[in-house]
Amino acid sequence: MSDAAAPKVKTLPDAQTVTQVQHWTDRLFSFRCTRPQSLRFRSGEFVMIGLLDDNGKPLLRAYSIASPSWDDELEFYSIKVPDGPLTSRLQHIQVGEQIILRPKPVGTLVLDALLPGKRLWFLATGTGIAPFASLMRDPETYEKFEQVVMMHTCRTIEELEYGRQLVENLRNDPLIGEMVEGKLHYYPTTTREDFHHMGRITDNMTSGKVFEDLGIPPMDREHDRAMVCGSLAFNHDVKDVLEGFGLREGANSEPQEYVVEKAFVGDGI
Ligand code: FAD
Ligand code: A2P
Repeated sequence: MSDAAAPKVKTLPDAQTVTQVQHWTDRLFSFRCTRPQSLRFRSGEFVMIGLLDDNGKPLLRAYSIASPSWDDELEFYSIKVPDGPLTSRLQHIQVGEQIILRPKPVGTLVLDALLPGKRLWFLATGTGIAPFASLMRDPETYEKFEQVVMMHTCRTIEELEYGRQLVENLRNDPLIGEMVEGKLHYYPTTTREDFHHMGRITDNMTSGKVFEDLGIPPMDREHDRAMVCGSLAFNHDVKDVLEGFGLREGANSEPQEYVVEKAFVGDGI
């Protein structure tokens, strides 16, 4: 049989099958796929995923795993960049189709990178909520901390919807719901559309508004731990705020009071 007549079906390296796709806005979607049996990861880590390009070469990008480590499947929450090499295609993925997944999870947003504390703050903008979608669904988070605060800020209300539904489902979950009850504080805000809570995370922390609204004392090094995931500019500004409260940046090799990960690269800082 000549090459021209050969079947076009390609077996992707490290292929996983898409099992669910949900579009949240014209810029955001999430999908689930099969999980390789051998893949072990810590909630909060990221992997490389992608598709084959026109030349049959893997086109891979870093993605936080949004599902918790106990889940049978993997979930990802994604931006749609109109002319983005990967997401201009990935946004059209359908159930039953395949993606490439390189099963080498890494990352700093893991519970092991923090010293023990009383309260854990998840601070995210945009798709930066993805690693916390994993950590919020992991029982270990609630075993280690008395209180967990999820601050998520987007420009508009519809961009918050993935996180809102996730928290609502978590509270109603027969297994973890009871564990979360009274412990998980969800504090979503918008910056460019009217909403019951508004403003940048940095502003709501420095003004003290979030502490007043939640009835929580201002952060301190003894009690508070934080994980940060957003644009480079956001991460930079939040670090300043956290350092102002006396928290120090940690890593897997040297746990401290807060850790940071980029939600994406490319806003020029
Ligand atoms: P790219 O060429 O990669 O990006 C084009 C431009 O789009 C970038 O320069 C940037 O300005 C913008 N952009 C890219 N990603 C985003 C984003 N997430 N939000 C807003 N603007 C963006 N992306 C996700 O959607 N979900 C994730 O869970 C996720 N996890 C990541 C974890 C890490 C550690 C890193 C470094 C990046 C992560 N990203 C995530 C970004 C992701 O790797 C890709 O950049 C994104 O999928 C776009 O790919 P692309 O090839 O279409 O465009
Ligand atoms: P703002 O609307 O005031 O810029 P983007 O869509 O540009 O990635 O931003 C996502 C969210 O993060 C927006 O609500 C935006 O607020 C907020 N944001 C962007 N940069 C920063 C920053 N440096 N510090 C705090 N919040 C930020």
